[in-house]
Amino acid sequence: MLLRAETRQPGAAAERAHGAPLVAFRDMAVVYGAGATAVRALDRINLSFGRGDFVCIVGPSGCGKTTMLQTLAGFIRPSGGAVLLHGRPVSGPGPDRGVVFQQPALFPWMTVAENAGFGPRVRGVNAAARAAVVETYLRTVGLWEFRSRYPYELSGGMQQRLAIVRALANDPELLLMDEPFGALDALTRERMQEELHAVWRRSGMTVVFITHSVEEAVYLGTDVVVMSPRPGQIVEHLKVDFCLQPEGRDIRAIKSSPEFVAARERVLSLIWRMEG
Ligand SMILES: Nc1ncnc2c1ncn2[C@@H]1O[C@H](COP(=O)(O)OP(=O)(O)O)[C@@H](O)[C@H]1O
Ligand SMILES: [Mg+2]
Repeated sequence: MLLRAETRQPGAAAERAHGAPLVAFRDMAVVYGAGATAVRALDRINLSFGRGDFVCIVGPSGCGKTTMLQTLAGFIRPSGGAVLLHGRPVSGPGPDRGVVFQQPALFPWMTVAENAGFGPRVRGVNAAARAAVVETYLRTVGLWEFRSRYPYELSGGMQQRLAIVRALANDPELLLMDEPFGALDALTRERMQEELHAVWRRSGMTVVFITHSVEEAVYLGTDVVVMSPRPGQIVEHLKVDFCLQPEGRDIRAIKSSPEFVAARERVLSLIWRMEG
């Protein structure tokens, strides 16, 4: 089922009544470099969303998806406008935002368990509490029996699972994922989609998820944000609800349903139009 953003936003409506949305981009712009060689990567970005939303960002290569995520992560400062978290400008990275990149960024000299517990260790969480968190998440993603192995001993899918566990171990308010499943084969990718979906449904966490795959965005998201390049702008913000179906849902049945196909084709046609 496909709905325009403004027709169904209970979270946003509640937040209007109680204060600032969890995340708000306000007329945000990012320019790389200066003078004749300056690149306007993002222009007039306006987007807000609330707790528990699963926001998928899609658009052609170079439209500024990574740049947008990095402003929210606090790695890049906007050149204009603002990125607000709880109504306050993002001033740098923090453990409240977990980041997962396309290529899993793991410490090769640490075991699986040490990688998983890295964030809590840096934050000074005691060993017993740390061990409990690490065990819970490693079991969730099927890596517990590999806890004493090193990253090079894991497949690509397992490494990416570990990168996600490492982000989750800090219990972040926001999980920021930049094409996290892009390097995985189709079957592993669908399994990872199901695992992420289950974690999201159980935790009520807020996720921002960048993907090249329109199908992945429509399947996983509560929100699909479509961007155009040069300069990067938001051309559409759609609400979808395929992700609200219960765990154990039939993936093939959902992805081949007329409603899903219509939503996917609508987003694809927007992207086709801007590339044409
Ligand atoms: N560090 C940088 N310096 C200069 N230009 C950059 C830098 N990072 C990205 N860009 C440019 O900004 C635009 C948006 O890039 P990016 O955010 O990586 O897009 P996407 O993730 O959608 O592919 C592109 O034109 C890219 O070449
Ligand atoms: Mg990118």
